[in-house]
Amino acid sequence: MFMAIPLKMFSDAAQAAEQVARELSDLIRSKPNAVLGLATGGTPLLLYRELIRMHREEGLSFAQVRTFNLDEYEGLAKDHVESYWHFMHQNLFHHIDIAAENIHLPSGTMPADEVEAHCQAYEDAIRAAGGIDYQILGIGRNGHIGFNEPGSTATSRTRRIELCSVTRGDAASAFGSIEQVPSHAITMGCGTILEAKCIALLAFGEHKAEIVKQALHGPVSDQVTASFLQQHGNTTFFLDAAAAGESQLWPKYSRNPQQNHGISRPLCAAHQGNFSKRHHSLAKFFSAEFFQIGNGNGTIQGKLSWACATQCA
Ligand code: GLP
Repeated sequence: MFMAIPLKMFSDAAQAAEQVARELSDLIRSKPNAVLGLATGGTPLLLYRELIRMHREEGLSFAQVRTFNLDEYEGLAKDHVESYWHFMHQNLFHHIDIAAENIHLPSGTMPADEVEAHCQAYEDAIRAAGGIDYQILGIGRNGHIGFNEPGSTATSRTRRIELCSVTRGDAASAFGSIEQVPSHAITMGCGTILEAKCIALLAFGEHKAEIVKQALHGPVSDQVTASFLQQHGNTTFFLDAAAAGESQLWPKYSRNPQQNHGISRPLCAAHQGNFSKRHHSLAKFFSAEFFQIGNGNGTIQGKLSWACATQCA
């Protein structure tokens, strides 16, 4: 079943990160013990930087927030510089007032005969916390979410998984060589992720455009596990213009904004790179109102409501 995933496109990654951070801070202020699902990788770094700024400058408190990370490499101790435990503490947890007991990541160092029970305990802990309120996701080059490699089912749960060569290749430079990249990881399952009440997938850069397109418009398939998000119902993609692959995702319209019936002038102007300050803020707003419509053959048509355009112009 096809369900259009709303997307929000921003002129750059920093603006997308700010918007997601704002959503998270609104959530935390209304629910101080909110449960966040967190991701690693380069993509959420700007988001974490913005959350740290909000903590320091706006008094955003994480004192009661609970977090569950998506995944961890097998065989890496917490203090390994490439462990996700280390990544999260370096890039977020050390800089905010979160309580150590509220931080959860799967362990990559469980004895083999305890891994299954550990994964089950992780699932139980998420459930006991009341489920994930807001899940942050990146996307791997092969379309994985967490470490749910191609072949992972939509109902999969937290488990040990073998990493595929694309994923290990992408991590090779961080580890020094592909041989040093762990062959396995522990990851939340797709089914675990899909139970989150709200999901934000972030993707930035031209190198993500093709896989983003497949996740958004391709068939729902275990070969691109991010495509399962089409069945979620409360997922939003936050993209910069490069990851949105503008020519693929944005409606074809005239370069002359006057001729674009049904599409706001500020957005057209913004899209043409004509970012006056006013257009810029309007485009930011309008991007939030832009919902894609799949027409079955992969082409996307955009439509903004005139009511909204009138109200804000
Ligand atoms: C790893 C992580 C994913 C992440 C992906 C993309 O595979 N397990 O959660 O989304 O990398 O990383 P990056 O954001 O650096 O492109």
